[in-house]
Amino acid sequence: MQKRTLGKGGLEVSALGLGCMGLSFGYGPATEKADAIRVIRTAYERGVTFFDTAEVYGPFVNEELVGEALAPFRDQVVIATKFGFQDGDSKKPMDSRPERIRAVAEASLKRLKTDRIDLFYQHRVDPNVPMEDVAGTVKDLISEGKVKHFGLSEAGEQSIRRAHAVQPVAALQSEYSMWWREPEQKVMPVLEELGIGFVPFSPLGKGFLTGAIDASTSFDKSDFRNIVPRFSEENRKANAALVDVLGRLADGKGATRAQIALAWLLAQKPWIVPIPGTTKLSRLEENVGAVSVELSAADLAAIEAALKAIQVVGERYPAQMQQRVDR
Ligand SMILES: NC(=O)c1ccc[n+]([C@@H]2O[C@H](COP(=O)([O-])OP(=O)(O)OC[C@H]3O[C@@H](n4cnc5c(N)ncnc54)[C@H](OP(=O)(O)O)[C@@H]3O)[C@@H](O)[C@H]2O)c1
Repeated sequence: MQKRTLGKGGLEVSALGLGCMGLSFGYGPATEKADAIRVIRTAYERGVTFFDTAEVYGPFVNEELVGEALAPFRDQVVIATKFGFQDGDSKKPMDSRPERIRAVAEASLKRLKTDRIDLFYQHRVDPNVPMEDVAGTVKDLISEGKVKHFGLSEAGEQSIRRAHAVQPVAALQSEYSMWWREPEQKVMPVLEELGIGFVPFSPLGKGFLTGAIDASTSFDKSDFRNIVPRFSEENRKANAALVDVLGRLADGKGATRAQIALAWLLAQKPWIVPIPGTTKLSRLEENVGAVSVELSAADLAAIEAALKAIQVVGERYPAQMQQRVDR
C-alpha cells in the first residue's frame, strides 16, 4: 500500500489506516476476540500500518485487543491512541490535567504491550486545562521516549495553533467525509499552513455512505447511532439521496460506494489518511481496495457538483456531545 506522511516529524503511515473502535465499542456488541484479532492482522497483511484506538474504547479493552493483535509486528506498525476523558469514560467530563495525561500514557503503554505510543492524541479539547499545559506534558513524554508524536482530535483553529506552538502537532483527527465537510472551511487551511496531517474519522459516515444502512435498519440497543440525530429514521430517509448519488458514481467507476467515499477523501490532499473501521474481513478487503481507485479531475468535479446539489440533514452529534467538538 502507498504511504503518506503525517506532520513534519516524519511519521510515515499507510495511506489508509484501520479504525479499531467498532471492534469493541460504539456499534453494538464487541466482536469475538479471535475474530477481531483476525481483522486487525489481516489489515496488516494487506499493507495497513496505521491502527487507531483510544483509552475510552471499551473502555480499555480495545487498547488491549490492539496491543495483542499487533504484538507480532509491533515495530512495523504505527499505533495511535488517545487521552482526555475522566476515568477513561467518554460519558464523563474531559480531563487533560498533566497528571492525568501521564497516568493514561503509562496505563496505555501496558495495555498496548509496548514501550512507546507512536501517536498520542488529546481526544477532545479540555476547556479547564490550557492547551500549552497539554502540549507541554506531551512534549515531556516525547523527550522521555514514551510518546513519539502528538495529535489532537476535534480541536478548533486556535487550539491547534496554541498546541503546535509548544509541541509540533503531527495530526488532527476529526470527522470528515462526504457528509461532513465543515473541516474544509477553517481547519484544513490551518493544517496546510502548519504542515499538520489530517486523519478523518468516520470516513464512511459511520457506515451510512456505504449504502448498507437505510431507513428500515434497526441498530442494537447499545449502538451509538441510536442517539445520533443524523441517524433518526426520518433523517436516514432524507439522506438516502446521498447514497443514491454515491451509487451512481460508484457504478460509473466500477467501484463500491465505500471505495468512492474513501478515494474521494484520499484525493482531497496528500496529507490525508482516513481510518475506516469494520468488523468484517470482506469489508476490510473492499475498503483497502479504495487506494487503487483513481479519481480524475473530471470525476472529482462531477462528485463536487453532485454533493453540492444535496442537502444533508441532522446533527452529527447529540446536543450534549456537540459542545465538546471544535473548541
Ligand atoms: N476521534 C474521535 O473522536 C473518533 C470518533 C469516532 C471514530 N473514531 C475512530 O475512527 C474510526 C472509524 O470511524 P467509525 O468507525 O466511526 O466510522 P466509519 O469508518 O465511517 O464506519 C464504520 C461503520 O461502517 C461499516 N462499514 C465499514 N466498511 C463498510 C463497507 N465496506 N460496507 C458497508 N459497511 C461498512 C461498519 O460496519 P461493520 O463493522 O459491520 O463492517 C461500521 O458500522 C473508529 O474505528 C475510531 O478508531 C474516532
